[in-house]
Amino acid sequence: MRQVVCDDSGKVRSGWALMPLRLFLGVTFLYAGLQKLSNPDFFNSASATSIHAQMEGAIHTSPVHGLLSLLLPVASAVGLVIALGEVAVGVGALLGLFTRIAALGGVLLSLGLFLAISFNASPYFTGADIVFLFAWTPLLILGAADAPALDTWLAAAASKATSGRPGRASRAPAGMTVPRRGVLAGMVAGGAVVLSGATALIGRAANSTTTSATGATGASGASGSSGTPTTTSTTAPGTSTTLSGPAPKGTKLGPASEVPVNGSATFTVPGSGDPGLVIQTAADTFHAFDAVCPHAGCTVSYLPSSKVIICPCHGSEFSPDTGAVLTGPSPTGLARVQVIKGANGDLYAV
Ligand code: FES
Repeated sequence: MRQVVCDDSGKVRSGWALMPLRLFLGVTFLYAGLQKLSNPDFFNSASATSIHAQMEGAIHTSPVHGLLSLLLPVASAVGLVIALGEVAVGVGALLGLFTRIAALGGVLLSLGLFLAISFNASPYFTGADIVFLFAWTPLLILGAADAPALDTWLAAAASKATSGRPGRASRAPAGMTVPRRGVLAGMVAGGAVVLSGATALIGRAANSTTTSATGATGASGASGSSGTPTTTSTTAPGTSTTLSGPAPKGTKLGPASEVPVNGSATFTVPGSGDPGLVIQTAADTFHAFDAVCPHAGCTVSYLPSSKVIICPCHGSEFSPDTGAVLTGPSPTGLARVQVIKGANGDLYAV
């Protein structure tokens, strides 16, 4: 065993040293791809956790915002390409088949996600994509490097066929190994497609048995029942006061009736121009926030089924009552925007 793991000088072969990293990246990317395929919400543009929501949220801050804007109409197709790409990269790394090409795919996927989603993560190492990008580089440079892998086995078989000396690196002409490797890759790809399809079907079947309680977000969103309060304002975290008389001073946001109870609506924050989010957490209780996530600048949304504000990019969750961070990498909570409901039924930012 030591002779297999170590070279003639007793040093551990580089491929064996890279095995933990290769297996971790393979499992992680395969898991990420299958998780996306099994989650119908990822492909549902109306969902706060969809690829569409992630791209829309990232457009405000990404250095490739022009490309994201261009691809936004086909966000679900982009999501499918990403998911299948992750499955292919994961399977390639785990089996050690076309290991360098799988690593290149991992680098490109990580680079794309870094530029689109994680570019403004602060501090920068809290965004996982840049870490994955550099984690793939040793495998990109060395490949399987004589560790247990289909690449190693194919090279040894080709070497044996041409020189009769098994165990050496392949000196066979490329034409002798590529066809075999191509056939093998086709079989593996077929298996990966079947696995992906089965995962997607199981995910949808499981989802269809669960009653979705999600409500719409946005100015015309409607989940739950909309109350018809007259003169309520939210002037401090968790508190409400009743006002009467003329319309309050401030920037008019729109009719409060468009914000359902346990639902939300969007607006533009006066002054900054940032996207804003107003939530009616209970009848006549409104809380509003700057919807730009403090982590990397994606736009957050309210998830009525979970009663949390969620960031689609890295999963930070915030309290709809205070904007405080509940979980995730965001270093701070959401900035509150004070809103008042006037006697005329409109909401105002003050
Ligand atoms: Fe990373 Fe929101 S942008 S959690």
